[in-house]
Amino acid sequence: MSSLKDKKILIVICGGISAYKSLEFIRALRKNKAEIKTIITKSAKEFVTPLSITSLSQGKVYEDLFNPENEAEMDHISLSRWADLIVVVPATANTLSKLSNGTCDDLASTVILASNKKIFLVPAMNVRMWEHPSNQKNLNNLKEYGYKIIGPEIGDMACGEYGSGKMTEPSEIFKYVENYFKQLRRNNNLKALVTAGPTREYLDPVRYITNKSSGKQGYELAKSFRDKGFDTTLISGKTNLKPVEGIKYIEIETADEMLKETLNNLPVDVAVFSAAVADYKAKNYSKEKIKKSDQENINLTKNVDIISYVSKHNSLRPKLTIGFAAETENIDENAKKKLSEKNCDWIIANDVSNEEIGFDSKYNQVKIFYKNNSDESIEKMSKSLIAEEIVDRVIKNFN
Ligand code: PMT
Repeated sequence: MSSLKDKKILIVICGGISAYKSLEFIRALRKNKAEIKTIITKSAKEFVTPLSITSLSQGKVYEDLFNPENEAEMDHISLSRWADLIVVVPATANTLSKLSNGTCDDLASTVILASNKKIFLVPAMNVRMWEHPSNQKNLNNLKEYGYKIIGPEIGDMACGEYGSGKMTEPSEIFKYVENYFKQLRRNNNLKALVTAGPTREYLDPVRYITNKSSGKQGYELAKSFRDKGFDTTLISGKTNLKPVEGIKYIEIETADEMLKETLNNLPVDVAVFSAAVADYKAKNYSKEKIKKSDQENINLTKNVDIISYVSKHNSLRPKLTIGFAAETENIDENAKKKLSEKNCDWIIANDVSNEEIGFDSKYNQVKIFYKNNSDESIEKMSKSLIAEEIVDRVIKNFN
């Protein structure tokens, strides 16, 4: 069977000298039975014609944002929903800048920014443009927003200069597309569970013990599992984040509720326990508001350790059980201790004494400790990229 049969791919062609190479890419997709629609920007028309594209793609070429004929047939929102994948080839510095800054001034940028699908950007530009700090800043933004950047390569350029900025060859771009769908198909049979956010341990109807967890790291993990084809469940404490589209979302408050929902949602292939679960709860919950005079005598009792409970019961244990360790000192030592005491396959340690990473920050920096005594550090990056790095390693483990 052709690897891309029934896959709907929207190709966006921007104005650069490598635009002609997009035709070769379209040919490879068609050969593998992909269904193609194309958007061509005004400047791309200086390099390739709608007629040559439509002859190869056997699909419609869209050009204008305010074309009544196009909008009546398929408006720009439906076009972005139609696609299983969007590939921008070539992606110029101008287009990267628009996407990074949220500028929608033509059909291409409007459809891409309105999309809820995976988007591959294949940059091509002069080496100085590529290296320019403003372009690099845009790229960093785009990576954080979840765009996949393919290339560019180092080589001779059409302008006569040499360096980074040369567009990845169409056959290579095709391999990325093929692998993306292969991975989705493979991971479709896999189930992931993620816990995230803080728990609240009520002392009385108005007071509770909690912590600074924002849920960001866990939500990014759930998104990444979803994007890579896993059937994903997110069990979250109360946060300010919106439930993630396309996953099973369960909100809880207390550690007991998190335990109950975790057990209700097993078995899974992989579970990542990124929630900051309170270690203690009130020994005797008071139905009435505790009087000031009685507040000195609040007794606590230990919560069940959810990850240990799951990992130590063979019938419940996911194939891959991953914990987090929030540490402020002796990070390696404490993380390794948790790895063995909690019977995990991996423990992912983060330094929560540093305000720029860990709790409530946009960024994290982690070290993964594996059961086989090896470890691996992942440098400081956004929590969404950290999540991708972790999920890629999970996939590699299953492969
Ligand atoms: O939510 P963010 O603001 O994005 O911050 C992310 C984070 C710092 C909360 C996250 O990266 C993280 O480190 N999560 C684990 C926090 C924590 O509770 O660490 P711990 O070292 O106390 O616990 C170790 C492991 O045991 C964790 O996987 C935890 O989920 C689990 N645990 C702990 C207590 C308990 N009763 N049950 C558990 O399952």
